[in-house]
Amino acid sequence: MRPGNHTIDEQRQGEALGPLPGGKGGRKLYLESYGCQMNFSDSEIVASILSEAGYSTTKDEGEADLILLNTCSIRDNAEQRIRHRLQHLKGGKRDNPNLKVGILGCMAERLRDQLLEEEKLVDLVVGPDAYRDLPRLVEEVEGGQKAVNTLLSREETYAEIQPVRLDDKGVTAFISIMRGCDNMCSFCVVPFTRGRERSRDPQSIVAEAHDLFAKGYREVTLLGQNVDSYKWNVDSKGNVKDPGQPVVRFAQLMDLVSDVNPDLRVRFSTSHPKDMTDEVLEVMARKDNLCKYIHLPVQSGHSDVLKRMNRGYTREWYLNRIAAIRRIMPDCAISTDVIAGFCGETAEEHGATLSLMREVKYEMAFMFKYSERPRTLAERKFEDDVPEAEKGRRLTEIIALQQEHSRERTAAQCGRIYRVLVEGPSKKSKEEFQGRNTYNAMVVFPKEDVQPGEYRFVRTTGHTSITLRGELVPEAVALAEGFVS
Ligand code: SAH
Ligand code: SF4
Ligand code: F3S
Repeated sequence: MRPGNHTIDEQRQGEALGPLPGGKGGRKLYLESYGCQMNFSDSEIVASILSEAGYSTTKDEGEADLILLNTCSIRDNAEQRIRHRLQHLKGGKRDNPNLKVGILGCMAERLRDQLLEEEKLVDLVVGPDAYRDLPRLVEEVEGGQKAVNTLLSREETYAEIQPVRLDDKGVTAFISIMRGCDNMCSFCVVPFTRGRERSRDPQSIVAEAHDLFAKGYREVTLLGQNVDSYKWNVDSKGNVKDPGQPVVRFAQLMDLVSDVNPDLRVRFSTSHPKDMTDEVLEVMARKDNLCKYIHLPVQSGHSDVLKRMNRGYTREWYLNRIAAIRRIMPDCAISTDVIAGFCGETAEEHGATLSLMREVKYEMAFMFKYSERPRTLAERKFEDDVPEAEKGRRLTEIIALQQEHSRERTAAQCGRIYRVLVEGPSKKSKEEFQGRNTYNAMVVFPKEDVQPGEYRFVRTTGHTSITLRGELVPEAVALAEGFVS
């Protein structure tokens, strides 16, 4: 979901959480997250639930009593990474026989007790809707048993659980607004690992945003597999449940969250082309703190492939949605996801993906080789018949084209003044700070007197393929010359 880097794999891997304050007991939890932002956000729920059960988190796996891996199943290589990680953990268990190891998240949900049989090291398997049961399950494990809970729920949203914020910068945070997915794209494992779609109570979402702002956070990203189908107080047939209460769809939710404070930036991920309405775009256009950036995964540029993927739109429909974005917000940045070598993809169909990319010129893209997933519609119905080498060749072509476009789009953002939300020191130098502009582009500038969490004006003067470089300018200059907020 969230842009981490712009090449092949957006699934962040193996990031450990920082020390958790307030654990009541002396036991130590080492929690590592893989996959999409939803998983990272869930880890903050898990840390909260286990802190109540007496666990404090540590960044040093050597001192852990419990190691939990929050896993991803989206492609085969995501699962292989976890298998390797488990191999590596064998050593840890040899050094500390009391160490317990658990698998959370999508791989836990997909493989269930099979994981206990295949990976002898694993003591605990817990799916994404069963985290409230963790204290009980962990107790069982501490008593020397193995424990599994992979029940999926139609209601669970962890709405009232206060996530423990483990990103130590304290400027940007995720808020889950819904869980699960009802779409059944034929390539995708998520409906099997995350269950049915359900939306979270808007009041609890707004309350969480208020709380984050009060704690100094200045940006929230609203998370869901398909945020455009967020709905509250309407049933799946579109009937109002309680006529005395307002209906809240995604456009209204964005309005509510952006009203928390004009200095709270709001982003969201992921939009679905078949559901993205003009109403959402109009709300975005109206408010400066709704960031002008949309991640709109296309997957393929050919309508026949999109049909086999069960995406629910054609090339023409997708391009019409792009035209709507350009019409309503001419300057909005757009990124996408692309799959190379889906079942039966011909050279011509691959060519259509390239031509669509040329037409849209995305700021950024996440690009993948198709990876067949068990139980999905594609696995049951189609043959994974594009040879591996050909998938690789097509992906390389897609990446090369995107790099050209990213460079061009970044260059076009040069020479203007942006209101940048400062996130912290840049990756390369302590003397420099970095932050994002509204278009989600990273801007690097000299540190001077800047503090994380501040908004500062930066004039961009140079760039690499996806990062802008610039200099701080006083507010008076920004006001006189004009700036992008
Ligand atoms: N809900 C989001 C997608 C989450 S998965 C959406 O609909 O956009 C993130 C991306 O992983 C997808 O957009 C797709 O490009 C990619 N992906 C999912 N399943 C895949 C598979 N089996 N092989 C390769 N890429 C896949
Ligand atoms: Fe997967 Fe499609 Fe749902 Fe995204 S919308 S999570 S790709 S099934
Ligand atoms: Fe996310 Fe991976 Fe699961 S992308 S929803 S963690 S399969």
